[in-house]
Amino acid sequence: MKPVTYAVLDLEAVQHNLVKVRQIAADAKIMAVIKANGYGHGLLRIAKALGDVDAMAVARIDEAIRLRKAGFNQRLAVLEGFMNADELEAFFAYDLEAMIHCVEQVELIENRAGQGQLSIWLKLDSGMNRLGFKEIEFAKAHQRLNLCSLVSTINLMTHFANADDKNDAKTLGQIRLFKQTVKNYQGECSIANSAGILAWKEALTDWVRPGIMLYGISPFAEETGQQLGLKPVMSLYSQLIAIKEIQKGETVGYSGTWAAEKTTRVGVVAIGYADGYPRHAKIGTPVLVNGQRVPLIGRVSMDMITVDLSSLSNAKTYDPVTLWGEGLAVEEIAIFADTIPYTLVCGVTQRVQILDKL
Ligand SMILES: Cc1ncc(COP(=O)(O)O)c(C=O)c1O
Repeated sequence: MKPVTYAVLDLEAVQHNLVKVRQIAADAKIMAVIKANGYGHGLLRIAKALGDVDAMAVARIDEAIRLRKAGFNQRLAVLEGFMNADELEAFFAYDLEAMIHCVEQVELIENRAGQGQLSIWLKLDSGMNRLGFKEIEFAKAHQRLNLCSLVSTINLMTHFANADDKNDAKTLGQIRLFKQTVKNYQGECSIANSAGILAWKEALTDWVRPGIMLYGISPFAEETGQQLGLKPVMSLYSQLIAIKEIQKGETVGYSGTWAAEKTTRVGVVAIGYADGYPRHAKIGTPVLVNGQRVPLIGRVSMDMITVDLSSLSNAKTYDPVTLWGEGLAVEEIAIFADTIPYTLVCGVTQRVQILDKL
């Protein structure tokens, strides 16, 4: 039985987007970022679609273990590293690479008894002020880790705070600080996320770490993935489940936030915030009915939204509706919902069945 509300994944688009990364960062190895359930697309589906990518990264260890158990044997990095001694053991057991960002993690490695080899990424805080060591602490941590027989390789990384703003000089400052700090160390370097890959060629070092662009989505507010030559992976679909006519002056939905200025055909679509459609999508947010744009009217409710069908006299109950994806950029919906497209794709809920594009 085909579900009424579902997402379709174009997994060939993942390869297309990966080729785009390879074209731009031709000399770099690629660590594909597939954390948070592959940015809401499905961890294992995306991992499979990535084929023989050099490495994959997730935020927390549980997703890394899931990938290993499912048979993925590429290099796997965990961006938040380990949180305690038990998790550290799992890094050895599952051959995972840890991002080391705080002194407590260095201590856990120093205090671990037993055999094994661990490959790590030491993280410099070059200005994000979230995870990572500042320069002096970075040097100290490097020195301590270098003395640990368990540590086989120390690679070096940092993360951008604002690379999606192409005019923000802070990004070049972060790149310079990173290069200056690591210049005397061996080990491979990694700086660039999607925005770094697309906008900051100085950030293209040994490894790049694309996330959002692999899903065909732009990291920049002013451009869509399509404009950057990317293809959207996720399309979110539903159906009209009712159509009614309301008279001038009548309101639609909770709190009556939209009132008809004339007799209006209102379409009810089976998608709501419980599916991950943004509750804050404004009146006027575009929705495709039969491939034609119509505006959202009234409030988004848990299971439904309402649209103005006045321009579509032929629309019928059960006609197909696209919320985002092919034909309607998720970046555009994000603007109408005062958010970023990352939150929209990550927020699709379990109620929405995910199907592969045939
Ligand atoms: C450390 C790190 N690297 C790379 C990425 C990928 O970023 P993006 O999805 O913007 O390409 C992320 C995502 O948040 C990250 O935390």
